[in-house]
Parts: sequence; structure tokens; C-alpha cells
Amino acid sequence: MSEIHLVTGATGFVGGALTLELLSQTGATILCLVRSKHGMVSPQIRLQYSLAAAARAYGRANLIPDIERRCHAIAGDILQPFCGNSAGLHATVSEVWHCAASLQFEDEYESAIFAHNVHGTANVLHFASRLKAKTFNYISTAYVSGSRSGRILEDLPSLDTPTNNLYEKSKIQAEIMVAAASGFHTRILRPSIVVGDSRTLAATSFSGLYGFIRELTKFKRKVARRLGGYLVHRPLRVWADELTPVNLIPVDAVASNAVKISLSRSLAPIFHLTNDCPLPAGASVASVFEEVALRTPRFVSSAIEFTSIDETLDRAIRFYRSYLSGMKVFDRTNADAVLGRAASEWSLEEGKFSRYIRWYLIQLADAQTRDVRPATGLEPAPVPVTFSPQSCEAGAMIGL
Ligand SMILES: NC(=O)c1ccc[n+]([C@@H]2O[C@H](COP(=O)([O-])OP(=O)(O)OC[C@H]3O[C@@H](n4cnc5c(N)ncnc54)[C@H](OP(=O)(O)O)[C@@H]3O)[C@@H](O)[C@H]2O)c1
Repeated sequence: MSEIHLVTGATGFVGGALTLELLSQTGATILCLVRSKHGMVSPQIRLQYSLAAAARAYGRANLIPDIERRCHAIAGDILQPFCGNSAGLHATVSEVWHCAASLQFEDEYESAIFAHNVHGTANVLHFASRLKAKTFNYISTAYVSGSRSGRILEDLPSLDTPTNNLYEKSKIQAEIMVAAASGFHTRILRPSIVVGDSRTLAATSFSGLYGFIRELTKFKRKVARRLGGYLVHRPLRVWADELTPVNLIPVDAVASNAVKISLSRSLAPIFHLTNDCPLPAGASVASVFEEVALRTPRFVSSAIEFTSIDETLDRAIRFYRSYLSGMKVFDRTNADAVLGRAASEWSLEEGKFSRYIRWYLIQLADAQTRDVRPATGLEPAPVPVTFSPQSCEAGAMIGL
């Protein structure tokens, strides 16, 4: 009989890519914890649609028959005790992959962030224990490093690590809880900032780099509405250190390396899934500005020189400042020992990074075109929506 893996967050960006990789690298049956959404859509339908869409987006449509045969949804919610499955499921699971999380970071979402990332993780640990899981893989983030700089080791952060936002704080608390869990082997996997597939560039949800691009395009539109072509002539100031390494890693690299680590015999508890070829912040931000058709910005290290327009931009992109300053180098002793260094070398130079940006700008433009319908007064009355994979609003899909 084939092994059984349980994945949370399989309808998301990292969890979806990871599930495809499990299909590709193992013969396992995959149970996916999926919550109900869109009213009457069953978790199984949501799961099949979202995994098939991810497979197509990543040029892996050959996996669709495996998705249909080997992926099974379990209805549930990580906010519930035992993820809402206190009875009824009697499978013995070899590995749990906990990817579900809240990626919000703003103070106003504090209770949701901690409910998902800390209490939710506790619920998944209890569920894993009930399923007699042998290994618990927790998808964390390299940014549990918080505001530390220098060489960041693959070790557990302390609870009082200074952080840049509540998301990082919640992920530190969750890591400490996972590491203290007993009854199974625990493994903490820490991607840096995840971007789309290395071949097709596609992503299926849009935080990190995509949030930065989105904020910049919104800002540009807002200024253009008020001040016309002002930004054509005037460079903006951005608070960032040009030399800071920005660590972006393609989603397929994260997924493939995570599964290879689980198939290895390594008992190391923590692995950095980061890029050995980070880009300097100055060049990365300049590329985003160029693709958004803004002049190359000036980089500053305080707000002293800000004009009111610079301040408005700074407010829009403040969350990203901590990722654009400070010198962090993610140590990969454990990851390299299993994967070899080459598995973490993902150069985004020679135009590749710009192609990622362009890919997302095209999605944003398409979504806007689809969302702006001419007010002819002749549109048919709206039909009650049941569900189709296309019925996810385009804007919501790309984070507008
Ligand atoms: N994206 C990055 O750049 C990045 C970088 C480093 C680490 N990570 C880590 O990678 C993991 C996945 O992130 P992602 O980018 O894939 O996020 P994502 O695309 O937003 O996906 C989040 C997933 O979690 C599920 N989920 C959220 N709340 C849930 C709940 N209450 N019950 C059940 N499922 C729930 C979502 O399900 P629905 O479809 O129902 O909403 C979705 O499948 C997270 O742990 C994150 O911290 C991400």
C-alpha cells in the first residue's frame, strides 16, 4: 500500500507546488485539508480545480491524472480543534506538510495572524498526533530571522528575537512550538521570498515581491490621476540599502528541495530553502521601477530628504523596507548537505527578474481590463454564481 501524506494549504501557492512535487517525486496518496469556500463548492472540487490550475500554470499538466487519482480533500479548518476532524478519519499518515497560514502582517490583523499561524499550527500538531504521523514538516519562513543581520543559522530563534512585523513574530512562536512537539520527527523548512515557477514564471498567489509591485502601480496611478505626468520627470526617493541582498526563490525550487529533503535520511531539524544568488536591493528595486515605467529612484537611509510624495510612497511600501535593508546571509549547512549547493543556485540575472515583473504586470493589466466593464446599461441581469474555476474574480486572484 502506498504511503499517505497530509498537506495543509494545498490550495495556496507553496502548498500547491509542494503537492505537485509530492505527486511527481513519490507514489504517495495525498490527503489535503481544505476549507469550504464559495458557499456550495465542495472541498474536493476546490482542491481539484486549484491543483489542476497550478499544474497548468507551471507547465505540468501531465500531473492532472495523478491529481484526480491520488489527491483527496478532507474538509477542515486549521482554526478548529483537530482541524475540525475530531472523529472519523482513521488513516495512518507518514508525513504531514503544514503550509496553511495567514500571510497578513498589519497590526490590525493581529488576532487573525496569531489565530492562524500559532493556534492553527497547534491544531495541526494535535491532528497529526491523532493520525500517528511519523514526520511533521512545518513550512516556516527564513524571516524568522527578524531584524537580525549577519549569518543566519539553521537553528531555532529565541522567543524574544526582534521582529519587523507580526507575521514574523507569529512564525517564530509556531517554530518554537513545532520544535517542542513530541511523538514524531519535526522538520522546519524555511523558504525566503517565494516567486513564480522558474520556467513559466507563473505564481498562484501574490504576496512578497508581487505586493511591492502592486503597491507601486497603485501609487503611480494615484499620482497620475492627481498630478498628471509629474513622475515622468521627477525621480522618487526609496528608503533602502542598495547593497542589501534580496533573497527570492522560485516556487518550484522550494517544492522540489523540500520533497528531496524529506526523501533523504537527514535528521537535521531546520533547513533554509533560500537562494544562493540573491539580487542587490538597488538593482531589484530599479528593475521594478523600470518595468512600471517610473524613473530610477534615489536610495536614501532616512526620511530626512522625503518630499510629501516620497512620504506617500514610503507609507505604501513601508512593509517591504525591512527586506530592503540590513545584511543577512542565510546559512545552508543542513540544506546543502542533503541537496548540494547547486540545488539552491537560482540566478535571476540577465533579464530573468524583469521577466518575472512583466509577467505579473500583465496579470494585473488583464484583471483590470476584465474588471472594468463598459456601462452600456444593456448588460444582462447578474446570474447567481455557483462555481467554476474561472469564477474566482480575476482581481482577487492576483491580489488587487
Ligand atoms: N509566499 C511566500 O513568499 C512565502 C515565503 C516564505 C514562507 N512562506 C510560507 O509558506 C506557507 C504558504 O504560503 P503561501 O504563499 O502559499 O500562502 P497562500 O497562497 O496565501 O496560501 C495559504 C493557504 O493556507 C490555507 N488556509 C488559510 N487559512 C486556513 C484555514 N483557516 N484552514 C485551512 N486552510 C487555510 C489557504 O486556503 P484557502 O484556499 O481556503 O484560502 C491556502 O491554501 C506559509 O506558511 C508561509 O508562511 C511563504
